[in-house]
Amino acid sequence: MLDREKIRKDFPMIQSEESKGRIYLDSAATSFKPKCVIDKVTEYYTKENANIHRGDYDLSYQVSSEYEQVRKLCAKFLNAPSEKNIVFTNGASSSLNLVAYGYGQKFLTSEDIILSTEAEHASNILPWFKVSEVTGAKIEYVPLDHEGVFDLEAYKKILREAAGKIKVVTLAQVSNVLGNIIPLKEIVRYAHENGAIVCCDGAQSVPHIKVDVQDLDVDFLCFSAHKMLGPSGVGVLYGRYELLEKMDPFMLGGGSNARFDICGNILLKDPPFKFEAGTPCVEGVLGFGEALKYLMDLGMENVEAEGKELHKYFLDEMAKLDNVTVYNPKSETSIVTFNINGIFAQDAAAYLNSQGIAVRSGNHCAKILLNVIGASETIRASLYLYNTKEEIDRTIAVIKEATLEKCIGAAI
Ligand SMILES: Cc1ncc(COP(=O)(O)O)c(C=O)c1O
Repeated sequence: MLDREKIRKDFPMIQSEESKGRIYLDSAATSFKPKCVIDKVTEYYTKENANIHRGDYDLSYQVSSEYEQVRKLCAKFLNAPSEKNIVFTNGASSSLNLVAYGYGQKFLTSEDIILSTEAEHASNILPWFKVSEVTGAKIEYVPLDHEGVFDLEAYKKILREAAGKIKVVTLAQVSNVLGNIIPLKEIVRYAHENGAIVCCDGAQSVPHIKVDVQDLDVDFLCFSAHKMLGPSGVGVLYGRYELLEKMDPFMLGGGSNARFDICGNILLKDPPFKFEAGTPCVEGVLGFGEALKYLMDLGMENVEAEGKELHKYFLDEMAKLDNVTVYNPKSETSIVTFNINGIFAQDAAAYLNSQGIAVRSGNHCAKILLNVIGASETIRASLYLYNTKEEIDRTIAVIKEATLEKCIGAAI
């Protein structure tokens, strides 16, 4: 059982004087951080400030070892075969770009197809547009229904019909607009049977549901620390080791090479280090370690089960309102996307803001999806483990009372 009242005490952003009366429903953009994460970042700057893998003194050895412990912990969190499968980047966007560049641009040709969906965040489609531009590979999309739900049968048919041509399937396990969870294990199995690898954008799934990379058998998994209680500036690329070995790094520089000479010969280190050129976000990775411990102590099974329960409560309460359109009534996790009928999303969000409720409005970086759900702008409310039923009740009451006049008034 998650004790949400106890959890809330761990978050300075909830406990501070300034936060009184505020309801934060934008964790899909970035989550709040518990005190243990903030303390670790501060501790690094006040007691441990040294670069990693570079200094010949105790402090540097100590920080390097702590940094590598986080890599091990992250492997454990994902049930990865080894810490060698874990590359630290500076965010999900960075990880996705690394796969598109290092694998897509290197191995795809004009004969190949990249299979994706129209629900992707810009960070998991623009890098593949670039792969298409550079290699000539085509991008095709698996159909979604009007609620953005992935059509598994259509996916299988596309793979069967173009078997051998589809080399990469790239898609988000949970859409950042609709909160739908795709059947990733089956998607991966079918891709492998038909000669494709799967790159999964886990930015909205890893914080909320238990993700076991060996069970899913996924080839790449990309996500950000800042959406799962960790600091900004840190991301993870989990990769199958044989693929990481074949891939090119996105960046070259200090720390990623074993040696180089005046003729331009470079011997890169083995993965994951060949992908980590330059000084990383050391304090961020150490803070991420605390975030992982925090989530593991709560138990991801509990975070997932109770997150789904709270999300369902929100959807059920929304269904009782007659002034809203909900675009993801069958979604399972964390995100509720809606409009207040007859009111422009930004004006409604401004009204919610005037009542102390923080939500996001717009197209949520998934510009193609809006053709599918038939709304160019929506409001997205996203939950995390520190939100409560009381906050949802208050939000529902505010939405119920929203009028065009109040919303326009708040937006001016
Ligand atoms: C589904 C999805 N993918 C990728 C990203 C990019 O994450 P970041 O901005 O942390 O790189 C986001 C961010 O909102 C997202 O929701």
